[in-house]
Amino acid sequence: MKPRRLGYGYGRGRRAAAALLLLLLCLCLSSAFLILLHGSSAPLEEKAAAGARVAEATAEVEEAPLPPGNTKVAFLFIARNRLPLELVWDAFFRGDKEGKFSIFVHSRPGFVLTRATSRSRFFYNRQVNNSIQVDWGEASMITAERILLSHALKDPLNERFVFVSDSCVPLYNFSYTYEYIMSSSTSFVDSFADTKAGRYNPRMDPIIPVENWRKGSQWAVLIKKHAEVVVEDEVVLPEFQKHCRRRPLPEFWRDWDRPIPAEAWKAHNCIPDEHYVQTLLAQTGLEEELTRRSVTHSAWDLSASKDRERRGWHPVTYKVSDATPALIKSIKGIDNIYYETENRREWCTSNGKPAPCFLFARKFTRGAGLKLLDSSLIAAK
Ligand SMILES: *[C@@H]1O[C@H](CO)[C@@H](O)[C@H](O)[C@H]1NC(C)=O
Ligand SMILES: *[C@@H]1O[C@H](CO)[C@@H](O)[C@H](O)[C@H]1NC(C)=O
Repeated sequence: MKPRRLGYGYGRGRRAAAALLLLLLCLCLSSAFLILLHGSSAPLEEKAAAGARVAEATAEVEEAPLPPGNTKVAFLFIARNRLPLELVWDAFFRGDKEGKFSIFVHSRPGFVLTRATSRSRFFYNRQVNNSIQVDWGEASMITAERILLSHALKDPLNERFVFVSDSCVPLYNFSYTYEYIMSSSTSFVDSFADTKAGRYNPRMDPIIPVENWRKGSQWAVLIKKHAEVVVEDEVVLPEFQKHCRRRPLPEFWRDWDRPIPAEAWKAHNCIPDEHYVQTLLAQTGLEEELTRRSVTHSAWDLSASKDRERRGWHPVTYKVSDATPALIKSIKGIDNIYYETENRREWCTSNGKPAPCFLFARKFTRGAGLKLLDSSLIAAK
């Protein structure tokens, strides 16, 4: 009985402390309210000065250095079900870097990552508990991204947010990847003006003017400030949900030789995930804080399509036979990206020095990923 009583007494003490805290909080709140009331009738200079002080204090808080090694990169996986490349990521995360990363997985609702569904302990129970059904090419993809961000933002040590697809592999070891991402104060977002593709729906104007419309890969790396902008957005997302509905492609869309009726393409697919983050950050005036390229490599199968509109529908999937040293060497060797619509060439750098453009690559089958891992071509220590 004794321990129980002790427990109860402790509980009572805590309750008393809680009551005191609550009282203090009420006092604080009411004085804050009074200050606010007073502030609203205060002269403008005084208000501006107070505002500046708050901004200064906020800046100080933001700039206060965190204990070394405690700043984390959050890896946000978007999967259909399981993670086919979990063993590749297991090798990447394993070792002496606990505390420098966190993992969140968005999979289909109800899917739980356990010993039974994952072969890597890094993923056990890392699924978010409010996931939604994602339809590829629909606005639900951006909702999934926001769900992941909102979970990851709850941990104040998460400073960078990396979107990862279930067919994506890391090209380098963890420490190199961590340094590359952390040493940049910007987000990495593939982003370019896209005025001629016809995905912009003029009905979004004037809420999203066409000059803010951007295109680019969804596989971005965000700094915390931008992650918060995405989670808090209440303006751009509803426009996407309203005006970016997917129309089913015509039955014969795989048949390259038959023309697609122009109307079927016009009224259609904004492909929200290829526009949302880029457009939102342009719209909110944050483009200056971006490195406007992705660190995730995708190869697009341009040869298969003569139709410009259809390009971008088929990222190449590398199978076991494609997973060769030459392939990885060629991807790692890319040191610049050319953006045709803006006549802009991004020379890739990290920490002020020339660097490879890509830290990650997709799309790989499970077999291809394992082959690369076995031959130490990726995620190597
Ligand atoms: C999900 O988990 C969080 C804790 O991480 C909890 O606060 C929340 O209530 C849970 N939501 C649902 C829908 O279970
Ligand atoms: C990680 O990779 C980089 C670049 O390939 C290499 O220089 C470094 O030695 C590696 N670090 C470890 C801990 O293996």
